[in-house]
Amino acid sequence: MRLTVRDIQKKKGKEKIVSLTAYDFSMARLLDDSIDLLLVGDSVGMVCLGYDSTLPVTMREMLHHTKAVGRGVSRALLAADMPFGSCDTLSKAVRNAFRFLKEAGADAVKIEGGDGHTIQVVKGLRDAGIPVIGHLGLTPQRVVELGGYKVQGKTPQAAEKILTQARRLEEAGVFSVVLECIPAELGRKITAALKIPTIGIGAGPHCDGQILVLYDLLGLQDRIRPRFLRTYAFLGAEVKKAARKFRDDVRKGKYPSSRESF
Ligand code: KIV
Repeated sequence: MRLTVRDIQKKKGKEKIVSLTAYDFSMARLLDDSIDLLLVGDSVGMVCLGYDSTLPVTMREMLHHTKAVGRGVSRALLAADMPFGSCDTLSKAVRNAFRFLKEAGADAVKIEGGDGHTIQVVKGLRDAGIPVIGHLGLTPQRVVELGGYKVQGKTPQAAEKILTQARRLEEAGVFSVVLECIPAELGRKITAALKIPTIGIGAGPHCDGQILVLYDLLGLQDRIRPRFLRTYAFLGAEVKKAARKFRDDVRKGKYPSSRESF
């Protein structure tokens, strides 16, 4: 049985929530028993599909990857990102979010932002019975408006705005909120102010949980290397080494051997 929204919420103040992104079936199976919350992030666009930002990612692409991950998850709670443009009206947001739950096996959706429209969308999704995660701070779908992938909430006014948005999202009914690229002190303040758990990515150590992009953690991409990133394995180098070894073996006639042939 998968972890529920209540299971995730009960961890606040007791045990840190461990979260990673996932984009395919095999990785989801490998991650399922150590991770509490798996997110099919729209970062799929940058790390799997080769886009320069998350903006081009479509519902079709998100559903395709969420279905694959969903088939590999039996313990973690599975959330999917609402891609850019999927929530421009409330009815469209509800229709799209239902597709993640009904067709793709997700348990929840994540939506970026804390402006008035997003708050209304969150309320509408909650009225429709859809569990929602918020996302504040650096919201990559607004990267152009934010002037790049920069730390947010550095001035007292900007920090206050993010804190207010977090409170509004909580009131609107999100069960957790991702805080991306904000000063650690603001991460602490928001975490203390909310009853729901915060999950940080570049938001310091005080958040109730931490999330990283899987390809960053595994050293599989090097296009963007933010300061908060810790690389836990260097699979990119291993993949290159394996491919070179295979190439050499094939060229030298060493693969396949007789034992590997029928
Ligand atoms: O798309 C994504 O991977 C995300 C995480 C960075 C939180 O939103």
